[in-house]
Amino acid sequence: MKNYQKYQRGYFMPPCESNRWVKKEYIDKAPVWCSVDLRDGNQALIIPMSLEEKLEFFDLLVKVGFKEIEVGFPAASDTEYEFLRALIEQDRIPDDVTVQVLTQARPHIIEKTFAALEGCKSAVVHLYNSTSLAQREQVFKKPMAEIKALAVEGAEMLRDFAEKTPGNFRFEYSPESFTGTEVEFALDVCNAVIDIWKPTAERPVIINLPATVEMSLPHVYASQIEYISDRLHCRGNVQVSLHPHNDRGTGVADAELGLLAGADRIEGTLFGNGERTGNVDIITLAMNMYCHGVDPGLDFSDMPSIQEVYERVTRMHVYERQPYAGALVFAAFSGSHQDAIAKGMHYREDHDPEHWNVPYLPIDPSDVGRMYEADVIRINSQSGKGGIGYLLEQQFGIDMPPKMREDFGYLIKGISDHEHRELQPKEIYEVFCREYVNVLEPCRVDSVKFTERGGMFAEVGLKVNGVSHPATAVGTGRLDAVSNAIKDSTGIHYTLVNYTEHAMTKGSTSDAMAYVGIINGSGKIVWGAGRHNDIITASVNALVSAINRRDRVE
Ligand code: KIV
Ligand code: ZN
Repeated sequence: MKNYQKYQRGYFMPPCESNRWVKKEYIDKAPVWCSVDLRDGNQALIIPMSLEEKLEFFDLLVKVGFKEIEVGFPAASDTEYEFLRALIEQDRIPDDVTVQVLTQARPHIIEKTFAALEGCKSAVVHLYNSTSLAQREQVFKKPMAEIKALAVEGAEMLRDFAEKTPGNFRFEYSPESFTGTEVEFALDVCNAVIDIWKPTAERPVIINLPATVEMSLPHVYASQIEYISDRLHCRGNVQVSLHPHNDRGTGVADAELGLLAGADRIEGTLFGNGERTGNVDIITLAMNMYCHGVDPGLDFSDMPSIQEVYERVTRMHVYERQPYAGALVFAAFSGSHQDAIAKGMHYREDHDPEHWNVPYLPIDPSDVGRMYEADVIRINSQSGKGGIGYLLEQQFGIDMPPKMREDFGYLIKGISDHEHRELQPKEIYEVFCREYVNVLEPCRVDSVKFTERGGMFAEVGLKVNGVSHPATAVGTGRLDAVSNAIKDSTGIHYTLVNYTEHAMTKGSTSDAMAYVGIINGSGKIVWGAGRHNDIITASVNALVSAINRRDRVE
């Protein structure tokens, strides 16, 4: 790691201060979104998409709400040419969607591009050439003036071809490798192109400033965008577009700060697929706006099916921690997070169902088609009583007393720790039932008769190891009377300290669930639960379960 010195390369800060964007707090309106999945994304795939796969992806992008979609570089490959022809000839481009095609500034390429567009009602033709210092010196070996001339000639050719081709064409220009270009030179080239295209309100021009390779901190990129945006000719009829890649892992920050700095449009891809570390992820950008209360104008409410199509046709995998979409991004394993989420969800239900401010969940998972049950509270050895109790309550209608949740929490953590794996809700429920509910050996109560005799008098049909032990006693209430009868008859010592019950609310059941806590001979609290459609039987079973479990807690 001593080689860092060889990376003292520059990036290009604007020649004067450009930082008004710093003072803005959030992006208050959605930009024009342009998907480049089918071009930039596709060219970065190990196996590029087939025609059928591209058509499916195109339909998905339309469904999500993209109004501008770059569909390829039709002059560069037969598949891309055929794809554009299929879209046009099969009439698959909705009237409110504009396709975009990429081209270099060479006459035969531009000619083939316009041929591919024949019959297309409207399109953006996207011209690019690299303007960076490194490419001028090493690749083209040409001075600035010749690089600018290439852009100007390309712009003229586009203008002339568009004039003789029927259809509604708009133009886009990208000084490719913009982030490696001196800012004033990039501005000069862009203005020269604008001067040729002469944008109008009806036919605005797009100037796309790509972070082809991310080279600087995002605030430098934003300052470059502000500097250029302030100085472009005909700015009112020019859309400033951003096209961040993600080499430094800050593509989203580039796009967000760039929008604050005055950009109007974003080019990116779903899940950030694209060259090297990818293009900027439009899902993250859109959802970041969404959770600031701003309508992003794209619909990600069914993220699982968007992900399914994306993974199938690109053969890529959406990372488990991918913002808003990954399998684990709403999951809470840790006890303290689970506890806060459970309390937050209850608070929201009771106090403010209109708003979302639940701790640890930046958005409501259901807004992107995810389920609380499967995605949020996940149980492993890191989990705690709050989450485990909440899960049983939400999914199985079991509302244990707080102290019992603690007991069960330790039990579940122990199993997960021992088996070194996550436990599924059904398994947790089964452990609960097996461990606490209707534990009727060695003691069981087959019948009870109550009468009022200066207190509650109980005649209990008690069996211990299958042998009858008829028992009677008086108590302050029914359960107390049964408890006294069992103690007198068996000589077992314990103190009944906790009793609660509720109707089961989940599933088509009219059962009641009762919970009993007793203090055993070692002074420890032991829990039992009883389930039955008769509430008295449920509570007696809960007591008997606790008694039968008394030696399990030392
Ligand atoms: O990353 C880039 O610069 C590009 C251009 C063609 C816009 O993809
Ligand atoms: Zn790109």
